[in-house]
Amino acid sequence: MGEVLARFDAVTMQFGDLVAVDKASLEIRSGEVLAVLGENGAGKSTLMKLLYGVFPPTDGTIVVEGCPDGISGPAEALRQGIGMVFQHFSQLPALSVRDNLLLAWPKTPFWKSRRNRATGDVLSKLRDMAPAIDPDTPVHDLSVGEQQIVELVKVLNIQARIVILDEPTSVLTPAETDRLHGFICQLAADGVAVVLITHKLRDVEACADRIAVMRRGAIVDVSYRGERSMQEIVTLMMGKTVDRKLPSPQPATNPVDRLVLQYVSAQAAGMRLRDISLAVGRGEVVGVAGVAGNGQTLLAEVVAGIQPVTYGEVLLDGERIGRRRPGETLSTPLGYIPEQPRENATVEQLSLADNLALRDLAEGNRTDGSTSDLLCRFNVNPPVPDKRAGTLSGGNLQKLVSARELGTPRPAILACYPTMGLDLAAIELVYEHMFAQAAAGAAVLWISEDLDDLLAAAHRIAVIREGAIVALETNDGTLTRDRIGALMAGMASVSEAA
Ligand SMILES: Nc1ncnc2c1ncn2[C@@H]1O[C@H](COP(=O)(O)OP(=O)(O)O)[C@@H](O)[C@H]1O
Ligand SMILES: [Mg+2]
Repeated sequence: MGEVLARFDAVTMQFGDLVAVDKASLEIRSGEVLAVLGENGAGKSTLMKLLYGVFPPTDGTIVVEGCPDGISGPAEALRQGIGMVFQHFSQLPALSVRDNLLLAWPKTPFWKSRRNRATGDVLSKLRDMAPAIDPDTPVHDLSVGEQQIVELVKVLNIQARIVILDEPTSVLTPAETDRLHGFICQLAADGVAVVLITHKLRDVEACADRIAVMRRGAIVDVSYRGERSMQEIVTLMMGKTVDRKLPSPQPATNPVDRLVLQYVSAQAAGMRLRDISLAVGRGEVVGVAGVAGNGQTLLAEVVAGIQPVTYGEVLLDGERIGRRRPGETLSTPLGYIPEQPRENATVEQLSLADNLALRDLAEGNRTDGSTSDLLCRFNVNPPVPDKRAGTLSGGNLQKLVSARELGTPRPAILACYPTMGLDLAAIELVYEHMFAQAAAGAAVLWISEDLDDLLAAAHRIAVIREGAIVALETNDGTLTRDRIGALMAGMASVSEAA
């Protein structure tokens, strides 16, 4: 058992009346991966932000080894070798990967270290972790998964003793996730204390030595690997047993095409879509699988009418919804859950009610006073209509977006990683409403990183690679994870029998 590097002792954190962390006691030890599990809003991020010095606790103490005066703030935390990769990380999108990495270097002003050994070190770390990322690429051209890796490299670069990762795998592909698990285990083997905030059991199974479960701000259980079954851990986390059931795809009964892409080409931010034709029928769920950064984001933005097409058409029930030139105004009746809904689909300064009404305002309607009801139906916590959206946890903001986009009948749904970063209960809720839309006749286009979920519930699965749809497979029960994975990786020929 490693040395105790930090200790929480009856730590409480209140935001106004809200108790985000409730008398939490926990030890963080060197050479160990500590998983902190819990539902959205359980207090995981807040607990670790306290250690990182983002804010002081309302009550209780946090002792960091070798630091008798405590951690006064993130700068001090970094000097003490405590690094944190946030759930919603911040980078300077216009700067290159190299400069973003060097900006985070706490010792030398980054412009001085551009050409010295520090640069070499950090770039070699980057090469180890992500050989495909060119350090001279501006960060805004990276996929979310790639940005995450850059964040992690930043933290590793400070020679951290304690590395806190806040839901790092929620934006990664399966292959990237496996790689990250490998890095995490290696860090612990090198003596680093790794805190892995997650609600993915796969993360826990892959690398946790000890598992702390949080519920409603309290640490309800701490166990060693193997001491508890995953089922027990889920029960502790949720307070009830969960067995995720997705509807098996029934053959779409009425295959009238609703959402149609014809020869769509587009180009933005270094990404190019090439000649995409795809038709999603009434009541049909078409999944899009692909390794992050192969054009999924641009595809979604073109279908949503955010980015213009350079060629081709996007049609909904025969009407054009795709933009032909930047700035062209088209209102779209499509329900759209974008990637990173916090940044892309909410306004933090507005109330929950106003956020829910954003579409209606644009469409010239008024809200009908059913706001509280909608918040409750989507389990947004707290379900208080005049609360400012910016005070909600990421998961709850995401539920807010789902409530707006999935809460009323839509002719089509475009869902871009709709469950990413959500806890199990919220995932079920989003799926329930998404599939209910399909059952009611909507055409659902569903971009996902979760092959198991796609295989469980999509009628057909399209595979996107290098901006093109390289395969469109009917999910008839014979399609496998391996087959899709091989197509994603470009290792299976499209015509090859499954
Ligand atoms: N800066 C803040 N101001 C007010 N409330 C906050 C703030 N940060 C978090 N909260 C609230 O604290 C609770 C715990 O949030 P968080 O720690 O983000 O949960 P988790 O990371 O487990 O999803 C949530 O109810 C959230 O709304
Ligand atoms: Mg969190």
